[in-house]
Amino acid sequence: MAEKRQHPAGDLISQLIAIEEEGDRLDEAELISMISLLIFAGHETTSNLIATGTLMLLDHPEQLKKLKANLNLVPAAVEELLRFNGPSTMAGPRFATEDIELAGQQIKKGDMVIPVLKSANRDELQFTDPEELNITRTIKRHLAFGQGIHMCLGAPLARVEGDIAFS
Ligand code: HEM
Repeated sequence: MAEKRQHPAGDLISQLIAIEEEGDRLDEAELISMISLLIFAGHETTSNLIATGTLMLLDHPEQLKKLKANLNLVPAAVEELLRFNGPSTMAGPRFATEDIELAGQQIKKGDMVIPVLKSANRDELQFTDPEELNITRTIKRHLAFGQGIHMCLGAPLARVEGDIAFS
């Protein structure tokens, strides 16, 4: 950040600093937090989707063959790669707003709940043959980007990046 303050260029960090100085919108702590978020939430996740997704396809040659034969399947394949082994294991913690019983577990108001997205994405009540990678399956929804008010802000961008990379 010190370097970019001295030598601003056309990059994202320079632009974030410019916003901070013009409109007093991002202080130092917010700027660091925003940059960390973009690196870990934005960059690392998508890199992992592309790398792990490639590995998953190489491990399932029949799926890779289907995809190569029909690139129209790419968006569905990206969703399936996200479901089958997406980059995020868990969402951020949630806190129960009331007592609730969930699958036989008693959760008390105020308890912290850590949703394990990868487990939900293999839920046999939601998906037929959840342990199979199948790029032609129709997915109504998966939880690779979380759910609710804190659902991934970058999901549309990540999907576009995935589509470009796998195409
Ligand atoms: C394949 C790529 C990605 C995956 C799997 C992913 C996954 C997630 C997950 C699981 C969450 C937490 C959702 C929840 O708690 O319900 C999240 C939050 C978030 N993601 Fe992503 N993400 C990806 C890419 C991106 C990109 C590209 C950006 C931005 C450039 C981004 C920005 C964010 C932000 C800002 C949040 C916090 C939203 C909030 O708390 O309100 N993510 N992401």
